[in-house]
Amino acid sequence: MIGELLVPLFDVLMALSHAMDLVSPVLVNHHFRVAYIGCSLADELGLSRREKNLVLTAGLLHDVGSLEVKERIDLLKFDVAGTQRHAEMGYRLLRTCGLLDREAEVVRFHHTRWEAGQGSECGGHEVPRESHVLHLADRIAVLIEPGMPILQQTQGIVAKIEEGTNHTFVPEFVAAFKSLAGKESFWLDVSSPSLKDILYEYRPLSESRLSLKGLLAVGSLTARLVDFRSRFTAAHVAGVAGTAAALARAAGLSPREQDIMRLSGYLHDLGKLAVPNEILEKAERLTAQEFALIRTHTHYTYRILEKIPGLETVNAWASLHHERLDGSGYPFHLKGDDLPFGSRIMAVADVFTALTEDRPCRNGMTANEAVGVIERMVREGALDPLVGSLLKDRLFEIDEARRESQRMALGEFRALRPEVDVPPGT
Ligand SMILES: [Fe+2]
Ligand SMILES: [Fe+2]
Ligand SMILES: [Fe+2]
Repeated sequence: MIGELLVPLFDVLMALSHAMDLVSPVLVNHHFRVAYIGCSLADELGLSRREKNLVLTAGLLHDVGSLEVKERIDLLKFDVAGTQRHAEMGYRLLRTCGLLDREAEVVRFHHTRWEAGQGSECGGHEVPRESHVLHLADRIAVLIEPGMPILQQTQGIVAKIEEGTNHTFVPEFVAAFKSLAGKESFWLDVSSPSLKDILYEYRPLSESRLSLKGLLAVGSLTARLVDFRSRFTAAHVAGVAGTAAALARAAGLSPREQDIMRLSGYLHDLGKLAVPNEILEKAERLTAQEFALIRTHTHYTYRILEKIPGLETVNAWASLHHERLDGSGYPFHLKGDDLPFGSRIMAVADVFTALTEDRPCRNGMTANEAVGVIERMVREGALDPLVGSLLKDRLFEIDEARRESQRMALGEFRALRPEVDVPPGT
């Protein structure tokens, strides 16, 4: 029996923020850095606790709408153009979750220039003050050169930011930054490899906690972040979550356990955020090196979810989906009884969904063909026989659940990324 789930939102956002920056070494800690600089500015400006918390949470998520690694890296250029696309996408993605509407508003305008006061409004919308704090924090962060001693960079960064006073940044905020910039401690924190731990000092005092319902909302947001990076994966996580929940139902698990299975499905490929889009989209056979990179994803999922207290069961069900009963899976090479029933379900849900999907190099199989492959894997000792036979016996109902989840995800994908061509049959 799984105990009550009540998970601090802060831990969930820290984990998500960390995951988003794994895709390239040049992005590591970017979100943490912006959140930290934003909080320091908020302190210096004497913003209220509520405003500071919003700077923190929106800072942790601000580039959530930038789904491609190339765009993320372009955003590290100080004078980058065309920033509204990812800000608007971030706003729309965060709104889908229903719990992060204030963060969505802040993210929407986090590249809006001050323009001598005109930037307090944008397209008829009021721009939150927190957006302007984050804009400044983000541009300070991108000016930091990785290979150079930080204390030798401070004057140059201050000078560059000062040039933007009033037209790009709020003058009062630049003044607050100049006062912060006089403290070595600020710069040493910003460039510290332990920045994540330092950020915990800003953890909100009275913090929101997520129940299973809230976790499902944030989980489905996470699923979109993983899936919507490529049209080939646009509904994969959604399909696995739907299939896993239907298998749990077929196995007689309680409605609550079915929801926990769905949540684990939403999170199972979280570590794929560390894999560049080009590999997910590659039409040719993957090289050994690319394949090795893909195989890292479950380990990342495990280490990321491990940091969230209360999600231990979810982590096991989610992260062990490439383990096999005979020990031939990865990354832990667990065997037999070491694999909980939930992760055995997830393994079958993942294989079944993957086989029925179109990939860059092949068309998807029919549900019956996929069952044939799974039966073979059961005979070889890789997958659980009970779960395999549940799939076969209740195929129509389980496949319908998969299709329905994938239809909904593709509908959302088309609405959010109309520029990407998805064949109508998918
Ligand atoms: Fe941004
Ligand atoms: Fe950024
Ligand atoms: Fe996977």
